[in-house]
Amino acid sequence: MRPVTKAVFPVAGMGTRFLPATKSVPKEIMTLVDRPLIQYAIEEAREAGIEEFIFVTSRGKSALEDYFDESPTLEASLKEKGKDELLELLQATNMPSGQIAYIRQHQARGLGHAVWCARRLIGPDESFAVMLPDDVIAAETSCLKQMVDAHAKTGGCMVAAMEVPREKASAYGILDVSEDMGSLVQARGMVEKPKVGEAPSNLAVIGRYILTPDVLHNLEKTEEGSGGEIQLTDAIAQEITEGRNVFGYRFQGERFDCGSKAGFLQATVAFALERPELREELSLFLHERLSMDQAAQ
Ligand code: UTP
Repeated sequence: MRPVTKAVFPVAGMGTRFLPATKSVPKEIMTLVDRPLIQYAIEEAREAGIEEFIFVTSRGKSALEDYFDESPTLEASLKEKGKDELLELLQATNMPSGQIAYIRQHQARGLGHAVWCARRLIGPDESFAVMLPDDVIAAETSCLKQMVDAHAKTGGCMVAAMEVPREKASAYGILDVSEDMGSLVQARGMVEKPKVGEAPSNLAVIGRYILTPDVLHNLEKTEEGSGGEIQLTDAIAQEITEGRNVFGYRFQGERFDCGSKAGFLQATVAFALERPELREELSLFLHERLSMDQAAQ
């Protein structure tokens, strides 16, 4: 099987949950400690062997495109001052010409539509990854690498899966499982945002996918679904209807929903506590703050 070397990053959403910040700053550029969300996704992809990065963008996302450019003035200044560590950090964010492509989604018609916008950059026999940068996953081995390794044995489509409390299932795409093999499950169906009490399981799909080009063909015919948007879940579920394999992969790691304010704050604290230079001061602050809050109640 051909290795997975392309990843699509749909980043054309409006990020309304972070307004007014996202009026002028793309959500993917918002920083966890000192790196924008997109940097975490890129590092995860690189660890998985991704060589080509396809961004589906929209109006107002130019800061995202600039982020991957070289910054000669800044680099020269750091070099002159002997700030080698910072220089290295900065240069690691540059993307070699030809490795990165940008496609516009002209209207925010949903995640499925955003992925479909990248169709001409994917070969007819080429499985590809889709990564949503607002799902940030802390893991020893990158989540996408875990999936790429599993996919090399199974083929078909694969989605990252995570157990969620039943009462929260209606916020996710949910898998209907026909066979549970541990890390891997075989799906016999998928539902986007099921009504309360109607979820077929508590296994939710989160923002990492490995898809076959068949899904792009399905998207061609996929009609608007949940929320009036063209849903990627519906196009993947179509694969099952047509008798092809769709697997869920229970990854090892902790996922933060950085598309929501609570998740973004949790990720900020968790990632900052991992930094030796911040850990002590931050934990002291958190302890004091929580004790003050508790005392006030
Ligand atoms: P979200 O559902 O989080 O939507 O999209 P959003 O617009 O980013 O944020 P809110 O809900 O308004 O706060 C999940 C992913 O799909 C992309 C988003 O950029 C995000 O990475 N997306 C969504 C698109 O690229 N195009 C769309 O039309 C919708």
